[in-house]
Amino acid sequence: YDTKTPQYNTGDKTSFAYVSARDRWPVIITGGIDDVHRATSVAHDLETQREGKKIVEGLAKLKYELQHDRHMSPMPDDGEPDIAGYNKELKQLGNPNWFNVPWLYSECYLYRRMSTLFSLSSKWKNYDIFARQKMSTFRSSRPAVLELAARYKDLVTQLESGTSETQSPEEREAAEKLLFTEMCEICLWGNATDLSLLTNLSYEDIQKLQGSEARKASEKNIIVNDLAQAFEVLNKAKKAGKKERRVDIILDNAGFELFVDLILAGYLLSADLATEIVLHPKSIPWFVSDVVPKDFGDLLNALANPQTFYTTPSDDDKHAGKTPEPLSDKEADELSFLFQRWAGFHAEGQLAIRPNRFWTEGGSYWRLPKTAPELYEDLKESELVIFKGDLNYRKLTADAMWDPTTPFAEAIGPLGGKSGIRTLALRTSKADVIVGLPAGKDEELRATEGGGGDSGCRKWTWSGKWAVIQFWDGKC
Ligand code: F6P
Ligand code: MG
Repeated sequence: YDTKTPQYNTGDKTSFAYVSARDRWPVIITGGIDDVHRATSVAHDLETQREGKKIVEGLAKLKYELQHDRHMSPMPDDGEPDIAGYNKELKQLGNPNWFNVPWLYSECYLYRRMSTLFSLSSKWKNYDIFARQKMSTFRSSRPAVLELAARYKDLVTQLESGTSETQSPEEREAAEKLLFTEMCEICLWGNATDLSLLTNLSYEDIQKLQGSEARKASEKNIIVNDLAQAFEVLNKAKKAGKKERRVDIILDNAGFELFVDLILAGYLLSADLATEIVLHPKSIPWFVSDVVPKDFGDLLNALANPQTFYTTPSDDDKHAGKTPEPLSDKEADELSFLFQRWAGFHAEGQLAIRPNRFWTEGGSYWRLPKTAPELYEDLKESELVIFKGDLNYRKLTADAMWDPTTPFAEAIGPLGGKSGIRTLALRTSKADVIVGLPAGKDEELRATEGGGGDSGCRKWTWSGKWAVIQFWDGKC
């Protein structure tokens, strides 16, 4: 259940693994230290202060070990069963040093180890060191949020008022396909948090089947795009009159990305391309910005009282002496519309959130059938399982050094073939691994500016500029 193809390793100086471990992880740990330090300094009770200092020491020790390339030490047991798996694997890897270890395992270890510092305390058990950052990025994406909220209301109102009944079934299906593509691509680029790529199709545009310029422009950066196949699957199930049709989203980041994931979820339900959406968050603070269940609640709370959320000055605003602009009535109304829709779907059980510890284990998704058989069986019930973002893609493909022309179905191992799962990866590329490319594409992109050239580094896959949308139908 593990790939035989070697994985990217922090010891390989041509890989983004090395750059991440050397330059990015110390900065992330330092950010964590600052956050806990800040929270400790405003804590009132002595026990919280005492434990806060201990957590800061634990984070500083971790940073020291990493930067001095020490052995990765076994993790303390915090009562969760995944710790045994992490420690067993560490032993199998020969108690490696930080700079000679598979990238995927070591990066998961880093976040899991940080979380033990909190889970082993009494006052900080549910503390999320990244929460502050997550909410402030969401706040700063206000223009795109407002634009999408307006689009969403317009679209859903039109879908529900049956304006499209004057269209022939073929025209309607073509419009639905275009909208599905648009929604998925918004959802894809939400991962790159590149807001400039958001599009704005009017209903007339959709009817004429004209995509917006921005979407068309961003489409050229999607080097493999299997969305048509994914639409086919959902549309076929709808046309067959199947009563229960579930779509699962293996979430990535909180804030704006979660917001666009919910836009997609709401669209799929309103367009009857799905009857139920299951969202899969992480159980612990993970890779800085990943969604934990509380982020979902925080986002809904922000939308429940949008005026309060957007007009309460953030720490940065206070610092700069700025007072945020209030929302117009129309903007507040559009956000409330979203909130009511999503809260309604949630209350009706059509939008569920289902955490599972499997998502924060140290291995790849090749292990899903064996280490999480119940989750595997559950995902087989779904019409389509959408994996968001870069890390999910690395885990699907085992973060292995595949030749880039390796078929996607081969690189996802047990989830390829007749796995019973339909996999759709929406991935903006921020790491080395890439598969399913036509012959010559890697060479072509390496030769572009900043693509890596002859350096031996595949730099074009590191920046988030390029994306792939890859599908495998494991039910066929
Ligand atoms: O840029 C490197 C990185 O931290 C990877 O380690 C990780 O796969 C990715 O970024 C996280 O991105 P995403 O949120 O899209 O999974
Ligand atoms: Mg992430």
